[in-house]
Amino acid sequence: MEVLLAKSAGFCFGVKRAVENVYKQLDTHKKIYTYGPIIHNEQVVGDLEKRGVTVIESEKEIAGIKEGAVVIRSHGVPKRIYRLIEENGLECIDATCPFVKRIHKTVEQESRNGRQIIIIGNAGHPEVEGIMGWSEKPATVIGTVNEAENFETDRGKPLCIVSQTTFNYNKFQELVEIIQKKGYNVYVVNTICNATEERQAEAGEISAKADAMIVIGGRNSSNTQKLYEICAKKCEATYFIQTLEDLHLELPKTAALVGITAGASTPNNIIEEVQNHVRVNF
Ligand code: F3S
Repeated sequence: MEVLLAKSAGFCFGVKRAVENVYKQLDTHKKIYTYGPIIHNEQVVGDLEKRGVTVIESEKEIAGIKEGAVVIRSHGVPKRIYRLIEENGLECIDATCPFVKRIHKTVEQESRNGRQIIIIGNAGHPEVEGIMGWSEKPATVIGTVNEAENFETDRGKPLCIVSQTTFNYNKFQELVEIIQKKGYNVYVVNTICNATEERQAEAGEISAKADAMIVIGGRNSSNTQKLYEICAKKCEATYFIQTLEDLHLELPKTAALVGITAGASTPNNIIEEVQNHVRVNF
């Protein structure tokens, strides 16, 4: 029996880089804080906690820190957070994903040039909040057809549209077109990251030829749920597990190929464990 692990399974480039960065800093820093959990994965956050890394959640908490380093996670933060860290005499370890950083730069520059910033994304998402904080004037977040249709601003005002990195491309196009049809002067920058799309496309390809498919990720992780849905459509024997303990795999005798993929916040060691287990036991 063959086991095929998706190349895109697990952490994307930006998250991997951020998590590795925190581990790397442990030896050289007495005290490290992360502004928000570095990743939505309890095992990783718990392990870091054991090693003395503290998660802080608010600007007030930053203001209360006397010494140490604050890590900015891959989602990025508003510009004012950098100022706050600096004003407090703390070290800033910036693990913002370079793709997100690029959006910050575009937003800062275009808003300075007088364009009104529109972010296609989900209001309240930390990445979107971060992007908003780089605009000189208040930015507008649009996430639904209804919001796009109701959007209105001064006709003479040029716009700049960017996107949350994980937003669906087709939906982005649809919303942009609605705004463009209103006749505004629009500069559109497609800032969608293809890590999610690649992971989904690969999961679809593998599950289409696999006899059984294992999807690893947190129960509450929406991107893992999505992977599961894609795989379950193509492979009847698709299993959604959080860790190896959940795996009660019953393979048909004729199974020749087992596929494995994992959501964006699944650490490598869990993926490895599952992969080894399947290789050894079936
Ligand atoms: Fe990940 Fe960066 Fe893309 S955090 S999803 S590689 S924008």
